[in-house]
Amino acid sequence: MPETVRDRINNYLEDAIAAERNFEDALHSFGKTGVQEPVRALLAAAGDKARTQHQRLTALLEQRGGSPSAAKSALAHMLAFSTLTAQAGHEPGEKNTQHLIVTFGAAGAEQAMYQALAEAGAEAGDTAVVSLARQLQSEEADDARQVWPLLRTSARNSFREAVGAGHSPSDVLRSYLEDIIAAEKSFETQLTAFSKEGDYAPAQTAFAQHAKETRAQHERLTSRLEAIGGTTSTAKGILAQVFGAAPKLAQAGHDASERTTQNLMIAYAVENAEMAMYEVFCAVAADAADHETGHIGAEIQQQEKETAEKVWKLVGPAARRSIQQVTLRKAS
Ligand SMILES: [Fe+2]
Ligand SMILES: [Fe+2]
Repeated sequence: MPETVRDRINNYLEDAIAAERNFEDALHSFGKTGVQEPVRALLAAAGDKARTQHQRLTALLEQRGGSPSAAKSALAHMLAFSTLTAQAGHEPGEKNTQHLIVTFGAAGAEQAMYQALAEAGAEAGDTAVVSLARQLQSEEADDARQVWPLLRTSARNSFREAVGAGHSPSDVLRSYLEDIIAAEKSFETQLTAFSKEGDYAPAQTAFAQHAKETRAQHERLTSRLEAIGGTTSTAKGILAQVFGAAPKLAQAGHDASERTTQNLMIAYAVENAEMAMYEVFCAVAADAADHETGHIGAEIQQQEKETAEKVWKLVGPAARRSIQQVTLRKAS
């Protein structure tokens, strides 16, 4: 049987359920890790909320005659953060800081996911879908608002912990810089790949432009790292690993318009994670009394914020396009 609009929306719901399930598990494990109690408590509570979210999505899916599937989209894979939960070799406080960064990125991913669901639901004239999507979207926005102010405090505590363990402030700053450069390099590769995928020119252009900007970012950061006595390492930072590689396998079976929507949601997650990453970096640079490095971080953070806004505006139209294509296929 050819795919109907209802099937496609049910697929969106299935993807959202898989994403929330994976993220619930990740948040609960974040809630049990590290030494920063306020961070652990906040993330554990967000995990409880994620559980009620996939329960509400499942109830709606079942009302619509669907059932949760085992198949997972690229976004759901990303939100499992399996490489992150397996990480070793970091100070306990640093893990809490990283968990905040990825949670802020993930809250972005989910806001974009619900933006796509709400717009797809609106295109299909399905008010129950729109209203649940908007509700869940506002809950994700709350999570993001609660995480943001903890970033700087968490970064400063981690910094003190690292210095207390015998690392010099400039060594700590250089290692943050190395991680960021590695992350930017992998984001450049990812954006270049996104720019060649799908069939929606405005998204492809945005990805290509930001790939170029991202290259300039890591070049600028590399010069700064060399100026303060560091060298880039080939080791991939944790952000590069969790956000920089959308599994290609999970993209199979999605058509071009769905891939575009997925890529936009992933890109929105990455830009939000970057905003959080630079928030942390600027706090560390300030504590290491390196104002020039902090200034570069703040300028790049602004570029990420502008890119996030640009990507956001494309999510809704891409999701509507995906619904229109099903309608057109049926009519032809
Ligand atoms: Fe960047
Ligand atoms: Fe970026």
